[in-house]
Amino acid sequence: MSVYEIAVTRRSIRRFKDKAVPYEALEKCLNAGRLAPCGRNHQVCEYIVINDAEVLPGVFENIGGSVKMPPEKGGPRPEQSPKAYIIILINKTWEEDANRRRISLYDVGMAAENIILVAYEQGLGTCPILMFHENNLKPVLNIPDEYDIALVIAMGYPDESPVAEVATDSVEGWLDDKLVRHVPKRKLEDIVHHNRF
Ligand SMILES: Cc1cc2nc3c(=O)[nH]c(=O)nc-3n(C[C@H](O)[C@H](O)[C@H](O)COP(=O)(O)O)c2cc1C
Repeated sequence: MSVYEIAVTRRSIRRFKDKAVPYEALEKCLNAGRLAPCGRNHQVCEYIVINDAEVLPGVFENIGGSVKMPPEKGGPRPEQSPKAYIIILINKTWEEDANRRRISLYDVGMAAENIILVAYEQGLGTCPILMFHENNLKPVLNIPDEYDIALVIAMGYPDESPVAEVATDSVEGWLDDKLVRHVPKRKLEDIVHHNRF
């Protein structure tokens, strides 16, 4: 797959096969995150990679959104829950002042997309998750005070095949009667302005 094909066919995955993710695949994702563009090359992002079956449930308990919907609403059955996570942390001691956070969040986004695309290249599905309980997750994962959790990326081999479609009246995702997730995306001509707005 070309980078373009990867970028346009990737969809967020919330139901995963009951199959472990090899550490080598996760390490490739982490390395792609490490080398992502970052403001002033300050590299405030650090990562927790989780693939231990004993640690996974403690993360799942503390995330939210569609990945926690009941199965009849497109969420995972227990055996379809994520099989790995990469959690992006911001090391606050590397942020020179409070104004740096705005830049750090761009860094997180850049690293996250590298991770997500390299995961997809290796056959892995991902779902970025901002709905997490930071105060609960930090003790579960022994995260020290000088770190903030910026993003949780759920990972595993996909057990669903969501489809992108052209948005008409709404951009709200929906499930059909076979529980296929449909993801409406705005048309290029509706969002691109040529030369002047
Ligand atoms: C910053 C960000 C936060 C997100 N947070 C969540 C989340 O908490 N739970 C969830 O199930 N999906 C979450 N998502 C996934 C989005 O719902 C998904 O990207 C969107 O519906 C478009 O679908 P697509 O990724 O298949 O193109 C998040 C995505 C982004 C970029």
